[in-house]
Amino acid sequence: MDERPIGVFDSGVGGISLMRNMLRLLPKESFIYYGDEANAPYGTKPEAEILALARADAQLLLDLNVKALVIACNTATSAAAKQLRSELSLPIIGIEPALKPAALDYTEGPIAVLATPATLRQQKFANLMQLYGEHAFIQPCPGLMEFVERGITQGRELDAFLDELLYKLKARNPRAVVLGCTHYSFVAGAIAKALPGARLYDGNEGTARQLARVLERENLLCGKGEGSVTLLTSGDPDTAIPLMKKLLAAPIAI
Ligand code: DGL
Repeated sequence: MDERPIGVFDSGVGGISLMRNMLRLLPKESFIYYGDEANAPYGTKPEAEILALARADAQLLLDLNVKALVIACNTATSAAAKQLRSELSLPIIGIEPALKPAALDYTEGPIAVLATPATLRQQKFANLMQLYGEHAFIQPCPGLMEFVERGITQGRELDAFLDELLYKLKARNPRAVVLGCTHYSFVAGAIAKALPGARLYDGNEGTARQLARVLERENLLCGKGEGSVTLLTSGDPDTAIPLMKKLLAAPIAI
């Protein structure tokens, strides 16, 4: 048994969508969530810069004595998880686009994968496409996470943005859509509206289960206690922290 907290980070509030699943599955654990709003977005930055930011995020949480790290960001996972695992000795859990479950459910496709430009150009994603992407195609979504960071998860401005971003993809009539960025789960309702009839997938439940498995295997579960989440940001705490709290409680359409 280990009562130390679990450290979780993302470029901003997106990882709160994964945080919700982890809190549900592991209600006795204490979490420290860090959103690096001051440096967001990550998904339009070069790999070396994302790696440096992820390293700094990890260090901030290590200094708070965490027992495990969760990279609640597909972009940072693809750019930094392997490297951080080679540098650090604690368990590191990352998240990747949930293409596998979508491909197993929709063996004929078509499947669309929505993610940041940085996630989609990484070798890690190419390997995933190699395994499960026979009927999949990609859609980079620069600009979408910024809506969530502004607290906009529905409404006309977002609908207009999505209609323009996704109009070509809509013509391909995807049956499944993978939300390959943790921010996108918060706009799942608007995405479902822009792509009617498609089933949406995110990696949050699978990643939370992976965390539980790793904690159990490493004998790091916290058997007693109330559980809690401490919220931290590199951005403006007066806007970021209330938004995180609101998103922790918001309904999600997946
Ligand atoms: N939430 C992040 C992800 O899962 C990325 C958002 C960004 O900083 O571009 O990829």
